[in-house]
Amino acid sequence: MQDHAPFLERVFQIPPSEGSYDIEDVTGTIPPYLRGTYYLNGPCLFRRDGQAYRHWLDGDGMVTTLRFENGTVHNAHRFVRSTKYVEESTAGHFVYRTFGTGFEKLKRGLGLESPVNVSAYPYDGKLLAFGEQGLPWELDPDTLETSGEFNLGGRLTPITPFSAHPKFDFETGEMFNFGIAYAAAEPVLNVYHCDGHGNLKSRHRHKLGYPCSVHDFGLSPSYTIFYLSPYLLDMNELMRQGKTLQDALHWTPERGSTLFIASRKSGEAVASIPIGNKYSLHLVNCFEEGGKLVVDMLELDRPVYDQYQIIPDLFTDVSEGYPARLVIDLDKKEIESRTELPYRLSPDFASVRPDLWMKPAPDFWLLGISATGKPGRKFFDQLVHGNFDRTSVDDIYQAPPATYLGGEPVFLPNPSNPAEGVVICQIIDAEKQETAFGLFDPYRVAAGPVAVLRQHAPVAPCFHSTYRLN
Ligand SMILES: [Fe+2]
Repeated sequence: MQDHAPFLERVFQIPPSEGSYDIEDVTGTIPPYLRGTYYLNGPCLFRRDGQAYRHWLDGDGMVTTLRFENGTVHNAHRFVRSTKYVEESTAGHFVYRTFGTGFEKLKRGLGLESPVNVSAYPYDGKLLAFGEQGLPWELDPDTLETSGEFNLGGRLTPITPFSAHPKFDFETGEMFNFGIAYAAAEPVLNVYHCDGHGNLKSRHRHKLGYPCSVHDFGLSPSYTIFYLSPYLLDMNELMRQGKTLQDALHWTPERGSTLFIASRKSGEAVASIPIGNKYSLHLVNCFEEGGKLVVDMLELDRPVYDQYQIIPDLFTDVSEGYPARLVIDLDKKEIESRTELPYRLSPDFASVRPDLWMKPAPDFWLLGISATGKPGRKFFDQLVHGNFDRTSVDDIYQAPPATYLGGEPVFLPNPSNPAEGVVICQIIDAEKQETAFGLFDPYRVAAGPVAVLRQHAPVAPCFHSTYRLN
């Protein structure tokens, strides 16, 4: 089998490190208008005491921040002191079962103890770090010290399902999130609505036709939007047969996928529309226009999580996918139009301009895998800029050989002109185990980074990021 990702094993052997320092090794120029903080989370610890994780989602979460001010940037990165991290650090070895590696211990015998490694978002003056399962953890936004599990003032319990993809209404400060309860008898989609001050306003429960794994959802001014696919979790296999979460997930495309839409205000179901038999890990942006709901998303031929293993041989057989725009007629409860964009190289981690969130946002940025369709391991090596209105994807940065990209590319705007800015993502030299952040011209990413900010201490490729003005 061909190797499309030379030295990828070294990416997962980057020595775990924490630090807080100004980045001084800069090529190019940091735009002097940048005044804000970039937040990134991802799995950065894959080995202890001779044990090695098998799956990219297993590693313990480390949160990285970059604070931009007056043309300078301060970098901090620190592991989240989760129950799992602290207990295993004390023990000196891995204890808990993870997404893809089969240790015995489960949280209260009921589920996985979260590695808190998917995303980090500011909320109500706090910084919250999220994992695929379990409650978020609260961090000091400046020092990144962990203060404890975040439970919405006691409204969430340690076993409340709460996803890693909360969505925020920047105008109101509200936070929305969801969580799937997988009980085989009656699987339920929970939808949470919180005000901007840590108060749970409502929790709505929607019965699901099957116990499907859902990772992300969409938020528009009036709706919450869920792409439900038949990627089914068998809790019996997880809890009683000792399987990993990955091995307890089963793709059954013959059962079909559904777009489920609920009212933001009332929480009630609005529509449940059959949508073929594909899979969506991440949505991009949702908005309403001319009485129609527009859903921009990434659609894949099948789920991708089985491609996150076995480290270091990732994405050996990853499926194609593409950005797609759906226009939904909610009166008729049907899809009025579907547009698939011409980029099929396993797109993931998409974002739009923050000022156009929940509004018509034509431009988007994402990461792709150039060797999609060829057997052999591979990794993200393209930064892609596309445009939904023009249905074009013709601005692509190709990383050099053995250089990989990480972290959802996000748009860092000029506070006085939100159309101007740079797009940031991680750039990883796998052979040298050196990591940096690249700043790109958002509308000309193909030209390569306009600035490269090199880290003293490297950080493994991460998942989601966000940016807030200081
Ligand atoms: Fe995600």
